[in-house]
Amino acid sequence: MLPAHLKGRDFLRVHDWAPEDLLLVLDVAERLKARQRERVSHRHLDGRTLGMIFQKPSTRTRVSFEVGIAQLGGTALYLAAGDLQLGRGETIKDTATVLSRYLDGIMIRTFSQADVDELAEYADVPVINGLTDDFHPCQALADVMTIRERLGALDGVRVAYLGDGNNVCHSLMVACAKLGASFVAATPEGYEPSAEVVGWAHAAAEQAGGSIELTHDPREAAAGADALYTDVWTSMGQDEERERRLADLAGFGIDSATVALGSERAIVLHCLPAHYGEEIAEDVLYGPHSAVWDQAENRLHAQKALMALVIR
Ligand code: CP
Ligand code: NVA
Repeated sequence: MLPAHLKGRDFLRVHDWAPEDLLLVLDVAERLKARQRERVSHRHLDGRTLGMIFQKPSTRTRVSFEVGIAQLGGTALYLAAGDLQLGRGETIKDTATVLSRYLDGIMIRTFSQADVDELAEYADVPVINGLTDDFHPCQALADVMTIRERLGALDGVRVAYLGDGNNVCHSLMVACAKLGASFVAATPEGYEPSAEVVGWAHAAAEQAGGSIELTHDPREAAAGADALYTDVWTSMGQDEERERRLADLAGFGIDSATVALGSERAIVLHCLPAHYGEEIAEDVLYGPHSAVWDQAENRLHAQKALMALVIR
């Protein structure tokens, strides 16, 4: 039996959840990962249906949610946003109200965080944020799960994020702060994470005993890091800024020289998809320090735990 106190809860941003509830997701994720490895049935969501609204492309999020709910005994529906009446002007409120009559949970990947918040406000079923321009909370669950799995704890671990202070950086920073890690982000000037999110992270770190630092020097951030993390320089929806971003972010990628600056036990993380020779070198992605493929796998286990805990 799983604890029931999170049933019905939305997962819109890491900031909304208490550290103990985030840790519960990680604990359940580890258990479900072991069950799946041992082929032990774990049909916590027998007969339930998850709707997955996508307004941006996806490989990992789509497949891990779809496979994840199937392994829990449920079904997923892929809903391309452009094929819904939402794309023709039906309101988010009406969409949320109607979908709540059919579905047991909604996962949404879109541009605006405000749209996800509005969907959650009107839906009677839990809403899970599958990425917005501002946040990628499900990614952060898999990230901290992977750090804990590889390094034994979050507490006291030095996590260095190099590159664009984007949605992935925001969610990772807050998750690390809540779980007691020391987090440092190195970005070029103009690419810093949002001041509001940094404020949340500082407050959470103070409570959990961790720390948050920002720098413009990637080498300083990488020095002694136990986890080196990066993400694409041009996120979905920013394609026309690509040339400028390539120029501005040059020097913030992770290559073998960056890894050599990290601690002896350093792991490398990347949410994927990767762009070799930009934010990460191919030999690092496939090298001995890489935990990237476990991290991608852990999307499945972390989201299964999340769904099993929030869907009624
Ligand atoms: N990391 C991640 O969310 O990947 P997808 O865009 O493939 O879902
Ligand atoms: N920052 C990236 C993450 C992709 C999973 C984007 O938003 O495109």
